Amino acid sequence: MFLTDFYVQTYRDKVDDELSVARDVDGVLKLLGLPKGSHILDWCGGYGRHAIPIAKRGYRVTLLDLSPIHTRLAGREAREAGVKIRIVTKDFRKTPPRIKADGAINMFTAGIGYLSERDDLLALKSLRRALKPGATFVLDTMSPHYIARNYNPSGYTVSNDGSVRKVSFPRVYDFWTGRLISTETLYVGGRKEMVVTSSLRLYQPHELKELLEKAGFEVLSFLGSLAGEPMAIESKRLVVLSLRR
Ligand SMILES: C[S@@+](CC[C@H](N)C(=O)[O-])C[C@H]1O[C@@H](n2cnc3c(N)ncnc32)[C@H](O)[C@@H]1O
Repeated sequence: MFLTDFYVQTYRDKVDDELSVARDVDGVLKLLGLPKGSHILDWCGGYGRHAIPIAKRGYRVTLLDLSPIHTRLAGREAREAGVKIRIVTKDFRKTPPRIKADGAINMFTAGIGYLSERDDLLALKSLRRALKPGATFVLDTMSPHYIARNYNPSGYTVSNDGSVRKVSFPRVYDFWTGRLISTETLYVGGRKEMVVTSSLRLYQPHELKELLEKAGFEVLSFLGSLAGEPMAIESKRLVVLSLRR
């Protein structure tokens, strides 16, 4: 899905609200607790919607993402915004150890959960090698409890100008694997453009904790939002704050 422009076409105008991105950036920077000038790795950072504002606030930023479509867009938009970010187009399982960042963020269900648990562990271990000891790491994903409470077997979104439609159907939760399996169809101007399937493991908080600990992180807290609210059964997000040991 992420090697096409599916994500940019279907999500961009939904998630690029300037105010909510600014709020999330405020929150995640507060959770990281790093002084200006520190080096932050936006791990699976997409087209830079967090990396660019973080760089604007005076941090050194490296963005790593698998998708050349996303990283090219991030590079172009960073140039237009007049900020410098380092961009690495790579699979997160091969995060270069030379990055040596002071902290990392992984925003909006990015990378973790789409492959196998073994791959997620490999990825987190390679993230650990790319961070300095004591570095803070904020992982932001969907809360499995929220999805269960608001479960919808099909979904439908329309872009703000009406030109792009995305239909998600069917959406199945597989009890054997704990994965949400979706087939999504993209229509542009009434024409069927693309069909993508995805399979996302909905990790429980304690499962993410085990995975992070196996990779060499110490989990400090589970939060229900990037604003730092405690995790509750109603929380929409699952935010895990951890420390690189
Ligand atoms: C849901 S998007 C979120 C992007 C960004 N964090 C944001 O909030 O806009 C997930 C991102 O993860 C990236 N991704 C997925 N699998 C990856 C992998 N194996 N290695 C690196 N990046 C990956 C995708 O290319 C995509 O940009």
